[in-house]
Amino acid sequence: PEPGWTTRADAVVVGSGIAGLTAALELRTRVPRVLLVTKAELSSGSTVWAQGGIAAALHPDDTPAAHLHDTLVAGGGLSDPAAVEVLVTEGPDRVRELVARGASFDVGDDGDIALTREGGHRADRIAHAGGDATGAEISRALVAQIEAVQDDPGIEVIENALVLDVLTGAPSPSGQRPVAGVTLHVRGAGSRDGVGAVLAPAVVLATGGVGQVFRSSTNPPGATADGMAAALRAGATLGDLEFVQFHPTVLWLGAGARGQLPLISEAVRGEGALLLDVDGHRFMPAVHELAELAPRDVVAHAIVRQMDATAADHVLLDARSLGADFLRRRFPGITARLLTQGIDWTEEPVPVAPAQHYHSGGVVTDLQGRTSVPGLYAVGEVACTGVHGANRLASNSLLEGLVFAHRAAHDVVARYPGAAGAPEPVDRPGDAGLVAAAARSRVQRVTSEGAGPLRSAPSLERADDLLARVTTTAHRDGGVVADPQAAEWETTNVHQVARALVRAAWVRSESRGGHFRTDFPDRDPAWERRVTVSLDDDGTL
Ligand code: SIN
Repeated sequence: PEPGWTTRADAVVVGSGIAGLTAALELRTRVPRVLLVTKAELSSGSTVWAQGGIAAALHPDDTPAAHLHDTLVAGGGLSDPAAVEVLVTEGPDRVRELVARGASFDVGDDGDIALTREGGHRADRIAHAGGDATGAEISRALVAQIEAVQDDPGIEVIENALVLDVLTGAPSPSGQRPVAGVTLHVRGAGSRDGVGAVLAPAVVLATGGVGQVFRSSTNPPGATADGMAAALRAGATLGDLEFVQFHPTVLWLGAGARGQLPLISEAVRGEGALLLDVDGHRFMPAVHELAELAPRDVVAHAIVRQMDATAADHVLLDARSLGADFLRRRFPGITARLLTQGIDWTEEPVPVAPAQHYHSGGVVTDLQGRTSVPGLYAVGEVACTGVHGANRLASNSLLEGLVFAHRAAHDVVARYPGAAGAPEPVDRPGDAGLVAAAARSRVQRVTSEGAGPLRSAPSLERADDLLARVTTTAHRDGGVVADPQAAEWETTNVHQVARALVRAAWVRSESRGGHFRTDFPDRDPAWERRVTVSLDDDGTL
């Protein structure tokens, strides 16, 4: 649609989780005008839901090299060692900066940050806040920093603003189309109401994950893959899409449960809770030397197999041995959430099953967060920096957002010092139709059945076929949906990313990390490479 209003900025940051807020704060004093847009409120998004914590080698007995080792092992041979090196060496300083920005982590008796352990870590290196409310505390501190400078003319915040498309300029002789800004759909912000355009030479996408591509997830409802789909349409390359992380211990609310499901943090196992099958048998020691604290993909697949073996749709997380006082003090949020379901975990085991939690893939970037589209950056969960490879190590996600948002912001400052550099936007060919909002649950069901924790060629081919039939239910200009709203754009994004993800999962004919193919159950050394997805000039995958 034609924009009803236009403004200019030196840089646009899209998203207000840890990555977007960090990028905006780093840019604010370094370029004349930053625009921070977020689809709901500043404090919504996935970061606030993060329970367990943020990983960094902060303990005197721990080292970045040990953190690097654990991250590479979890990544199943596909992590980029250079990206991991950046993560683990810059991570501790970035966490200290977070503390300087007002984030208050839990401390031990010695007054130092208390560190716990999670799956795949061989050292205590997870900093946490409020017991099990780490993301909420980080979000609170960073949002407070943004709010404190909102009257500063150097920064504008637009809430309730869904990013529609990344605008690009005329192609250079090498064929690359540089970023020219973004279009937004804003709900009720005075002069910034309706569809508008922000012209800028640099756009930092920090739009989070893809939870809504699946039927159930720990992600909030806003995780509709908007940034990833917009980047794809703008010509960016996506990578590692098949590596979807299913968290092992999500509260099981019955077979029909949909939408955002409550997470039972991995830190609960880090403190000593055990996994039992429905017959009361502990099964993880026979699977991995780290038992319940094996990497997340190993635990999730072991649970799926054990559910199969016991003909059950859940297993049990038994935390009773930790003691009632400890559980209430260390995990106040989880304790309260369980009680709302009538579960007192100090007295009984908790029914859990794996559910979608995190997307290790995303928009491919270099070590500065640059994508394949000049001027377009991706940071946080929407990005594929190479850190996570086939499987993200627990609590590396907040850290990745922090470290690479800082890097991307400083790269923007170095390369795009002024709004004057923004090219004129030029329409791209192959603009796809919109998908009606009513199709979302069908897309989610098809993707969950075809590309869930266990996949195969038949399941993926069927999903691909069914998703291909969804496309033409609405059109941007008139058609079934004459006046598209956020729900149609979001559903279009969910659908486009679902198609790309299913394709990538079909191509990778092996099992590794978060991608398990029942028809190719083993790891294949020939597949030690990344699957990438991009659009042709005519807009097809
Ligand atoms: C958790 O608390 O289990 C989630 C941590 C993470 O996803 O890294």
